[in-house]
Amino acid sequence: MLIVRAADQGMTHTAETWRDGRGPYWGGPCPASRGCCQHNHTLAKRAEYQALWTALPTRCSTRPHPALVDTVLRNGDHATPHDRRLADELAHISLAAPAAVRERDQFTVRVVEHALDSGITQFLDLGSGLVHTSAAYTALSHASSNTDAAPSIVFVDNDIRVDELNRAWLRQNAHQGPRATAIRGNCFAVPRMLGRLRERKLLDRRRPVGVLMVDILPFFERRAPRAVLRSLVRWLPPGSIIAVTHLTDEPLVRQLPLSTRRALREDTARWCRAYQRCVPPHPRTFTPARFATVTSDLELLPPGITSTSCWPDPDTTRNPRPPFTLAAVGRVPA
Ligand SMILES: C[S@@+](CC[C@H](N)C(=O)[O-])C[C@H]1O[C@@H](n2cnc3c(N)ncnc32)[C@H](O)[C@@H]1O
Repeated sequence: MLIVRAADQGMTHTAETWRDGRGPYWGGPCPASRGCCQHNHTLAKRAEYQALWTALPTRCSTRPHPALVDTVLRNGDHATPHDRRLADELAHISLAAPAAVRERDQFTVRVVEHALDSGITQFLDLGSGLVHTSAAYTALSHASSNTDAAPSIVFVDNDIRVDELNRAWLRQNAHQGPRATAIRGNCFAVPRMLGRLRERKLLDRRRPVGVLMVDILPFFERRAPRAVLRSLVRWLPPGSIIAVTHLTDEPLVRQLPLSTRRALREDTARWCRAYQRCVPPHPRTFTPARFATVTSDLELLPPGITSTSCWPDPDTTRNPRPPFTLAAVGRVPA
């Protein structure tokens, strides 16, 4: 079988390469006859699950999972050939794909360090992805060896495959690093999720919390993502901070050439289409104006809305490539 080496990160793929429109998308017939999510592959079931915002009831072994695709771009492990094929397609759509994951992780580290400097020691990572490649976990591990205050973090992810891997990893590594817990939950059902955390005494509501919503809001396909942030703002103690990012197809720097703007729009549409190969939910874009509305219940720290690669400085990206990502970090007002 022909093995082709991708241009970056040492990814390999077979002759069965996925490209725009070629290869399977979610919604087609399930290739697995047993032991998979079976009928949930149909479009009707997909719509039902997205409307209810529950995760797939059983693990899907025939479609890529976004967190595992990121892991391939980080050069990590546990990925299936499906995850690798999609990572390869994303790198083909945008050479910036692996760098974007690194920049996102560096953004997370900067936010965690900022929070620690402001005296915040408890963290909530929503749509966390895999703990063993988590930038937040790594940043807190460094902090726990350097400071007296023991930081803690709760990882919330609704993907059954991610949750299994996270729990197994934390069981083996519980003795080192920050106090960390992984729970499987729908982070968009905020009151229910927070109720569970309170019951299990995983968050102390008297102390500010650092909430990470890094690359999770694009997966909220319903109409009112502002309500998600508003519920968090209502529940969290004043002084807490929330970091939010969102995929966009519109540059922040004004007056870029039309060709640059068009290339970003078209390639981001291909990027989102490629993600429709994954288990749902699937990401979508926001304009900077829409992102501003969604984050308007927070007191944004300077410079307000920027990109993940530039925060805490204003965005200066003159050649934005997908996934071009908006970022804002805001305080919960008193
Ligand atoms: C792009 S990935 C990981 C992003 C991660 N925060 C990072 O910075 O690398 C998005 C994650 O969100 C999870 N996810 C999607 N919808 C979710 C929901 N409703 N509740 C919790 N997690 C969700 C997916 O399973 C996936 O692991």
